[in-house]
Amino acid sequence: MRNKGIPKILVTGGAGFIGSELVRQAVRRGYEVSIIDKITYAGDLKRIGEIRERIKFYKADICRKKLIDEIFSVEKPDVLIHFAAETHVDRSILDSQVFIKTNIEGTYNLLETSRKYGISCFINIITDEVYGEIREGQFTESSPLNPNSPYSVSKASQDMLGRAYLRTYGLPIITLRPSNNYGPWQYPEKLIPVIIFKALNDQPIPVYGDGSNVREWLYVADCAEAVLQILEKGKVGEIYNIGSGIERKNIEVVKDILSLLGKPESLIQFVKDRPGHDYRYSISTKKIEADIGWKAKTQFEEGIERTIKWYVANIDWVNTKLRELKKYWSRIYG
Ligand SMILES: NC(=O)c1ccc[n+]([C@@H]2O[C@H](COP(=O)([O-])OP(=O)(O)OC[C@H]3O[C@@H](n4cnc5c(N)ncnc54)[C@H](O)[C@@H]3O)[C@@H](O)[C@H]2O)c1
Repeated sequence: MRNKGIPKILVTGGAGFIGSELVRQAVRRGYEVSIIDKITYAGDLKRIGEIRERIKFYKADICRKKLIDEIFSVEKPDVLIHFAAETHVDRSILDSQVFIKTNIEGTYNLLETSRKYGISCFINIITDEVYGEIREGQFTESSPLNPNSPYSVSKASQDMLGRAYLRTYGLPIITLRPSNNYGPWQYPEKLIPVIIFKALNDQPIPVYGDGSNVREWLYVADCAEAVLQILEKGKVGEIYNIGSGIERKNIEVVKDILSLLGKPESLIQFVKDRPGHDYRYSISTKKIEADIGWKAKTQFEEGIERTIKWYVANIDWVNTKLRELKKYWSRIYG
């Protein structure tokens, strides 16, 4: 690190679901944190309300290179943690343009600016979806990338751009590929909050295809903790998968939540499958366990209960998103 002592962190997408959890944890650990966030439909400063006074916030689009340069020139960060992205697969199927723009061009701007200002570490947050689907076994960090949706292709491009800047310019990059996150503050278009919200309101719960698709579920606090541990102990140039080993079929997740809420399974409504829907994701976490000593702590049952409690207590927050959500739900599920 350039500064001896605690590094200065700049977080893109720090008002998003995972980024805000990372920021809350980093502030608790005593880091000096600044955030760049455009506050798209998915961004919300309420997520960092409790620590707002202790961080610097820049409302800015990572696609605006000059503005990003100005922020770097003021902040002079040691570390950039890059969470900002368009993140929802279904939206990328409806319209992928903004995914290409933000996830690829926005990342390019950050890489170029980081190179110019000589940062000590660029943490590039990708996703396990870049590996594509796997019927059996697990992907390791050296598995080839075979992304299938416009979202995962844009993230694979972000990943490969990072690789190019590491190899070509020696930019100190660490690449992270987390699995599906869930937990408090997730924007209610993603599977788990959709199930909770619809179930609480006794509305039909849309399930793609026959619900047999499998995802690996990682509690958001565990994911953020992994990122901070990698910042402290990770090796530049390395790639780390971040997963929990907890695999569930979508239909199992729906039934678990219905049962915890005491709601009937008759709310389940199978809908036409998502085009190109990946069947299963599964990643090996042997590397992060061996090199960093990190392992996910939260069991699925515990994480889901905490998440449900949070949504029940914060249903007003979900309701503030409803107008935008209804428009979106009608486009996706008809
Ligand atoms: N949520 C998951 O399950 C998951 C799993 C693996 C990887 N990831 C990756 O982790 C990162 C964070 O995911 P999330 O679920 O917290 O996302 P999110 O959608 O909740 O938040 C994204 C944030 O980025 C901001 N943003 C979007 N476009 C921007 C732009 N052009 N300029 C500046 N800010 C912009 C938004 O305002 C928002 O605050 C993403 O890179 C995502 O691909 C997410």
